[in-house]
Amino acid sequence: MEILAFGVQADERPLLEKAFAGHHDVRCLDVFLDEDTAPIAVGYEVVSTSVNADLNHRVLEILAAGGTRMIAQRSTGFNNIDLKVAERLGLTVARVSSYSPYSVAEFAWTLALAVNRRIVRASNRTRDFDFRLDGLMGRDLRGRTAGVLGTGRIGEAFTRIAHGFGMNLLGWDVARNPACVELGMEYVDKDRLLAEADLISLHVPLVEATHHLVDAAALRAMKDDAILVNSSRGGLVDTEALVTELRAGRFTGVGLDVYEAEAGLFFLDKSLGGVEDDTLARLVTFPNVVVTSHQAYYTADAVRQIIDTTLQNVLDHVAGRHSENVLVPRAS
Ligand SMILES: NC(=O)c1ccc[n+]([C@@H]2O[C@H](COP(=O)([O-])OP(=O)(O)OC[C@H]3O[C@@H](n4cnc5c(N)ncnc54)[C@H](O)[C@@H]3O)[C@@H](O)[C@H]2O)c1
Repeated sequence: MEILAFGVQADERPLLEKAFAGHHDVRCLDVFLDEDTAPIAVGYEVVSTSVNADLNHRVLEILAAGGTRMIAQRSTGFNNIDLKVAERLGLTVARVSSYSPYSVAEFAWTLALAVNRRIVRASNRTRDFDFRLDGLMGRDLRGRTAGVLGTGRIGEAFTRIAHGFGMNLLGWDVARNPACVELGMEYVDKDRLLAEADLISLHVPLVEATHHLVDAAALRAMKDDAILVNSSRGGLVDTEALVTELRAGRFTGVGLDVYEAEAGLFFLDKSLGGVEDDTLARLVTFPNVVVTSHQAYYTADAVRQIIDTTLQNVLDHVAGRHSENVLVPRAS
């Protein structure tokens, strides 16, 4: 069988083709799945999609009408898929329920350290032979407080690194993680975490209850010199409210790997035409903000695990096997 894979990055393609070799053929497309591209999938029983695919009801209807029976999502998060509609249409949906949490946790730290120590500004300066230190002062992390919202796999890996830095640990989650408690994490309510943390990192999934978890009130509750890192999902932060606070001169730094309106922008080259999104355009002008385009997961290790699991999900579907990765089971 030939699988159709949407949204395949250049470095990902050889890994995907190698993994599927000997099992199924795979046709790789760099375009993302949306209403315009969905018709390409006509005749493909299995379609693989990436994090920024838009699997709304219309796209799912086009896929189902074209003969698609399974969607193999190459990510953990599945907030981009209308699962109820998929179920109604008899489409099996599987995701990659876990892969290297270190890829994302280490990247969240990369953003935290970059904004704290002004690495982007410093690097831009030295390229211009400007060797002054003005405006580059950061802060020691040892003895300061890390607040981790969401202490699952990635939050735990983030917490272990915070512990290594000698930070005090505050956590917020619907469930306590014993490994974090063991590291000395104190679980507190969200208000206390926001008020006391010097560094806040987001690691909860985007669900209805967490949409704009960091809204205008939450941002106002944070310390003026706090660092905020979001490597989870853009919708967790009210970006316009964040811009308002940044304009008021607040926060030591903000590192964002995700943005609530990233679909149609991230993973694409918009350098020639520019972007029409004024919020994003304003965000990248702040010297204390670093924005990256959803690359936290993008290590060779994590991508290999994602691809291996995607292959296994496809093999399981073909063989009629169930696994923990299945979000919508095969219609009987
Ligand atoms: N930027 C990237 O490249 C990238 C890559 C992978 C994952 N992610 C994001 O990271 C998130 C976390 O991944 P993970 O593997 O650690 O997931 P996980 O399921 O192991 O952990 C999520 C944690 O959030 C908690 N949680 C869920 N709903 C909550 C709620 N309403 N209130 C409070 N806590 C809640 C859970 O109890 C759990 O401890 C994913 O959902 C995804 O959005 C981003």
